[in-house]
Amino acid sequence: TQRILSGIQASGSLHLGNYLGALKKFADMQALDAERYYMIADLHAITVWQDPAQLLSQTREIAACYLAAGVDPDRSVIFPQSAVPGHVELGWLFNCVARLGWLDRMTQFKDKAGKDKERASIGLYTYPVLQAADILLYKATHVPVGEDQRQHLELTRDVAKKFNHDYKVDYFPLPETLYQGPGARIMSLRDGTAKMSKSDPSDNSRINLTDDTDTIASKIKKAKSDAEVLPSEEAGLEGRAEAKNLVGIYAALASVSVADVLSDFGGKGFGAFKPALAEVVVDKMSPISERLRALLNDPAEIDRVLRAGADKAIEVSAPVVAETKKIMGLWN
Ligand code: TYM
Repeated sequence: TQRILSGIQASGSLHLGNYLGALKKFADMQALDAERYYMIADLHAITVWQDPAQLLSQTREIAACYLAAGVDPDRSVIFPQSAVPGHVELGWLFNCVARLGWLDRMTQFKDKAGKDKERASIGLYTYPVLQAADILLYKATHVPVGEDQRQHLELTRDVAKKFNHDYKVDYFPLPETLYQGPGARIMSLRDGTAKMSKSDPSDNSRINLTDDTDTIASKIKKAKSDAEVLPSEEAGLEGRAEAKNLVGIYAALASVSVADVLSDFGGKGFGAFKPALAEVVVDKMSPISERLRALLNDPAEIDRVLRAGADKAIEVSAPVVAETKKIMGLWN
């Protein structure tokens, strides 16, 4: 059977990029005959400083985002990473499999550590190894993520390959990354060459899952575009980063192809396209933000979901840790 695993960091509120790159796919994948594990990556979040009370509320908030986006706890296992001891255990074992040279090539560490890398946590450096553990702990075969996770998924495959090779086993699968479609890389609304991100200082650069209808409409209206009409063929979007991004957002949200959007809007300018886009965004996002607001008022229900998910994840992962230790010759 297919096993799907993915996760979202428990650091700050989510935006349209997280929704299209990850959450929407998590929900859509419930149509498949597969096992699904969706975690809240709180152990990844603490690789940079997190206020304890805030971390706890962010963990519940991400869980609420999962539920609001349509991830159903009866069909998907939703759990906090830190509640399942196997992540840390396998993470250590994989620290002894992964090579320093592999981690030295990770661009995310360079971006996040900034100039003064002497002061970055060791956890931030070895972050991708923990991510490999997250995935292989469930022997996942498929990982839905946005494009920015490509390098981490390659490292995961390298860890699985090296483990299987060194111990002469065929134990860990080489997981496939799922980042097809226009939703895999959503760009800032202010700059079509920068990723939509929670760390962008301009709130107008992103649409948050918690934005209300008026805010969404005004952000789309202010979104950077250009003075030309939309092309009728996809190739005509090359070199027009903002136009390409807005058309991509429309396509991903409406679950149609970019070609479909252009066959409707080719030859029209942004004066016509932006209101239509705002309508689609509001249409798809406002039911989610409404559900989110309701869920955030019921932390006990969220905790029930997380407890049940953690119990299930522990049950599935404990034998994998035991088997890995056995393969490595560790007494247990
Ligand atoms: P995180 O929390 O930064 O992002 C969560 C998911 O959202 C996607 N994403 C985007 N997709 C499209 N356009 C964007 N602008 C955009 N911004 C973010 C990300 O690609 C991701 O899928 N390391 C991971 C969390 C993680 C994980 C895992 C993922 C930990 N363990 C195991 C998969 C499997 C991260 O920091 O994602």
